[in-house]
Amino acid sequence: MSDYFSNIRKWCDEALRAIKEFLKETSKRNNQKELEKFQEKLITFRDDLNEKQNNLTEKEVYDKAVEIYDEFYKRFSNVSVEDENSNMNIGRSVPIGGHKLPPLPYAYNALEPYIDEETMRLHHDKHHKSYVDGLNKAEMELQRARQTNNFDLVKHWERELAFNGAGHYLHTIFWSVMSPKGGGQPQGRLLQAINHSFGSFDRFKKQFSEAANKVEGGGWTILVWSPRSGRLEILQAEKHQNLSQWDVIPLLALDVWEHAYYLKYKNNRKKYIDNWWNLVNWPEVDKRFNEAQKVRWVPY
Ligand SMILES: [Fe+2]
Repeated sequence: MSDYFSNIRKWCDEALRAIKEFLKETSKRNNQKELEKFQEKLITFRDDLNEKQNNLTEKEVYDKAVEIYDEFYKRFSNVSVEDENSNMNIGRSVPIGGHKLPPLPYAYNALEPYIDEETMRLHHDKHHKSYVDGLNKAEMELQRARQTNNFDLVKHWERELAFNGAGHYLHTIFWSVMSPKGGGQPQGRLLQAINHSFGSFDRFKKQFSEAANKVEGGGWTILVWSPRSGRLEILQAEKHQNLSQWDVIPLLALDVWEHAYYLKYKNNRKKYIDNWWNLVNWPEVDKRFNEAQKVRWVPY
C-alpha cells in the first residue's frame, strides 16, 4: 500500500475510533442515526482502501478523503452540548502523555506548487511529530512530579509543555486551515466579522501578511477570536509559545507580577500565592469552565 493510502487509512481508523467513543458517551443524542450512517460510509471507504487499492487512483482517494474529512469536521464542530453539567468533553479527552500526530488530510504533494512535497513530509512527519513526542514527555514528567510531590524541575517541564504543546496544537490547526482547493475569501458571518474588525478583507489580509513578515525569528501569525472584545484580532506568536499553548482557554489566572503583591508581601511571592488561594472564586471558574466546554475540537 502506498504511503499516502496507508496514511489515509490510518486517519480513517482514528476517526472511527473517535466516533465510536463519541457514540458511546452520547447515546441520548438525536443525531445518533446520522452519525451511524456517516460511520458506515467511513468504514466502506476504509475497506475499499484495503481491498481495491490496486484499482484506485490517488486522485480518486484524495477526492473521497477530502469529502469525508470535511463531513467529519462539520459534524463534530456542529455538535452542541445538551447538558452543561455533562462530562462529555472529559470523556473524550486525550490521556496524559497520549497525544498523537494527526494524519495530513490530503496528499503530501497536494499543496504544490505553493508548498512542495518534500517540505510537507519533513514538516509533518518529523517536525510536528517531535512536538507530539515532546508534549507527551512533558505531560508524563509533570504527572510524575505530582505523584512524587517533587517539583524541582517544574519550570523546565512547564517550558517543554508550552513549547511542544503550542507546536502540536498550532500545527494541527495549520494543516486543517489549508486545502488544495483553498484561496479566495471567506463568506457569510466570518466575512462580516472580518469587515467589522479590520475594515475590509483587503485590510485584514494586508495586516496579517505584514505581521507574519515581521515576526522576529521563528513564530506564527494567528487570527484569533476574542470572546471578551467580541472581535477578531491578529497576533504574532514569537517562537510560537512564550509559555502558552494558544489553542487553550484560560480558566483561572493568578497575577504574579510584583505590582500585584509587592506593597504587602515585598519579595515574599510564595506567601502571597499561599494566601491567594483563600480568594479564589470557584463558581466563576466553574462558569468559565462550562462555557469553555462548548468549544469542541477533535482530540489529538
Ligand atoms: Fe512548523
